[in-house]
Amino acid sequence: MDLIEAIKGRRSIRKYKPDPVPEEGLRMVMEAVRWAPSWANTQCWEVIVVKDPKVKSELAACLSKGNPASSSMTDAPLILVLCGIRGISGYYKGEPKTEKGDWLRFDTGLAMQNLCLVAHAIGLGTVIVGNFDHRKVEEILGVPQTSEVVALTPLGYPATEGSTPKRKDISEFVYSDHYGKKG
Ligand SMILES: Cc1cc2nc3c(=O)[nH]c(=O)nc-3n(C[C@H](O)[C@H](O)[C@H](O)COP(=O)(O)O)c2cc1C
Repeated sequence: MDLIEAIKGRRSIRKYKPDPVPEEGLRMVMEAVRWAPSWANTQCWEVIVVKDPKVKSELAACLSKGNPASSSMTDAPLILVLCGIRGISGYYKGEPKTEKGDWLRFDTGLAMQNLCLVAHAIGLGTVIVGNFDHRKVEEILGVPQTSEVVALTPLGYPATEGSTPKRKDISEFVYSDHYGKKG
């Protein structure tokens, strides 16, 4: 699949078939994470692959009330929970290099986008989920203080196509030379 076609064609999938994800498919999405860019190649990402139906239900209960991704948490055969190791991305010798502090959410975001695009290219669906009780999820999965859960996604074969939310026009977000200045 052509890259721009994959970028434009990927949709958030909230309905899944129960069919299992082949080992090779899972390996390919992990490979996509592996090759994501990161601050000084620190590769702070960690992925917890959740298959156990009991754990999936516990995670589903952590989503915000009315979260449209809720049912996909138990329908999809897998949930991938993306974590980041604290204090390495954006740091040098233990000190943050910029006023932004930890860049782990940026790097794990890049990894998540790689993951979603490759999943889409091989026929698998994803939906990035960020609106949930992170502390509870960390507790359920036994994530240590040295890492944090950033976002998660179900992974499986789409049962329906996702709708395409409207995008801003390029002219609405591109400035020329100075903030707010239109070219
Ligand atoms: C950081 C982040 C958090 C998100 N959290 C949720 C969520 O909690 N529940 C949900 O259903 N979708 C969530 N989404 C999916 C967005 O709603 C979706 O990407 C957006 O509406 C654009 O649709 P598309 O992905 O089909 O292009 C999230 C997306 C991102 C990038």
